[in-house]
Amino acid sequence: MVEKNKLVSATARSTARSGPKSLGVGFRGKLIIASNRAPYLKNKNGRYEKSIGGLVSALDPVMSATKGVWVASTPRVSKGCRAGDDPQDLHVPPDNPKYIVHRVPIKRHDMNGYYHGYSNRLLWPLCHMLLDKVYLKEFYWQSYKKVNALFADAIIARAKKKGGFVWLQDYHLALCAGYIRNLRPDLRLSIFWHIPWPPYDVFRATPHRREILEGMLANDLVGFQIDNFKRNFLRCVDLELGADIDVKGLFIHWKGHITKVKVFPISVDFKWFDAAARSRKAVIFANKFKREHGLNGRIIGISVDRLDYTKGIVKCFDALEIFFEKYPEYRGRFTFVQIAIPTRKTEPYLGYMKEVKQKVASINEMYGTKDWKPVEYIEQCCSHLELAALFRVADLMLITSVFDGMNLVAKEFVASQVDCTGTLLVSEFAGVADGMPGVTVINPYDSEGCADMIKAAIEAPAERKKEMMMLAREYLASNDIYRWVENIMDEMKGLRR
Ligand code: G6P
Repeated sequence: MVEKNKLVSATARSTARSGPKSLGVGFRGKLIIASNRAPYLKNKNGRYEKSIGGLVSALDPVMSATKGVWVASTPRVSKGCRAGDDPQDLHVPPDNPKYIVHRVPIKRHDMNGYYHGYSNRLLWPLCHMLLDKVYLKEFYWQSYKKVNALFADAIIARAKKKGGFVWLQDYHLALCAGYIRNLRPDLRLSIFWHIPWPPYDVFRATPHRREILEGMLANDLVGFQIDNFKRNFLRCVDLELGADIDVKGLFIHWKGHITKVKVFPISVDFKWFDAAARSRKAVIFANKFKREHGLNGRIIGISVDRLDYTKGIVKCFDALEIFFEKYPEYRGRFTFVQIAIPTRKTEPYLGYMKEVKQKVASINEMYGTKDWKPVEYIEQCCSHLELAALFRVADLMLITSVFDGMNLVAKEFVASQVDCTGTLLVSEFAGVADGMPGVTVINPYDSEGCADMIKAAIEAPAERKKEMMMLAREYLASNDIYRWVENIMDEMKGLRR
């Protein structure tokens, strides 16, 4: 079996895409990407550094190859620097410039309304079907429109060549294509919606539903993570606008324009995580981490989440509480490492952070002993290499999102599981549960069921765990982030007016 495992791991690695070398063909000087967050941010030492994240890792080489422009909002700056100190156009990568990051200057008040307000207090909870968290003020909407128009102006100014490609990222930019299309009908426009799209009965809670749908339909191509989100979108378009949708649900005709709608499940850089997890640095880090946190000889569970209510972190702890109560034989033997990364430091996130910490404290107080903590709670960001190291040595990962576009952490775990000894338990409400083989699907609302699944995962025969993980790894090796970019770019090239 060890031999077979070696073989499959090798196959998985050789089928992994090697990188986006040929992706730029046909896009030279013609590609503009736009996202809220910039791909390069200033670090504490005042140097620009590539932001961490799969999307930036995948698109940065594409932008270098195509010599494109990446339009983003003015990034937050570290203490001691003023935003005004920074140039609006950055030539990146800093040591060998290949493309431009153009930062759209956005006033603090507008940023509050567009980002913290409309994007994060309306669209985010709405798309994650958490209507009780939806909060709206008129100025949120006004700022959202204004900032989308600012992005559109910046894109138009930089789209010098006729017939260029514009690729918008995510829910911050739902209206942008509508503003661009009116002024530059020659440009080919596309948006990828990274988060879920909700059913119509939820979506209709926004009073601006018509404007948002019309903004989306100004694109030539709209991409979603999984089929369910695409179906929800088509139904919204049908019920709200009464637009013509072709029988296969691939094309929407609206006001004389055709939009293609397609599913592209996002992924991770499989080869990178595989190699990182095997590296000497990772092994050293994992050993040190285990020693420092008293994990040697213990079964390790892990989760890594942005501190966000959609991630169901409290639900995860509900399940763990039941697990330790129902199966006391695991007290002292199993430790759950929760890495939580605070990114949005406003309400309701601050309140959620407090709730999470209280829950951890109560479990640790109830079941912990002098030399063992049931939950190791770490509230900080780790590097990708450190994560790969921890994912390799973990026995299970538990993802309890109440709703999630994809959940890339789950895919990073699989890519790092080079020994195939761990199990991925993933919420049925996360996009990653849709179509990825070798994962164990759980229902985060059924805490006792989850507790039983944790026990079953720990006690499953090693052979079974290996088979499951090998299946997941083979799938991921050939469906990595480069395949994702390639599929979308191929589709964009095929777009015709
Ligand atoms: C999640 C979503 C992404 C989104 C990001 C924004 O990771 O899956 O689609 O772009 O949040 O996070 P931020 O911290 O920039 O608000």
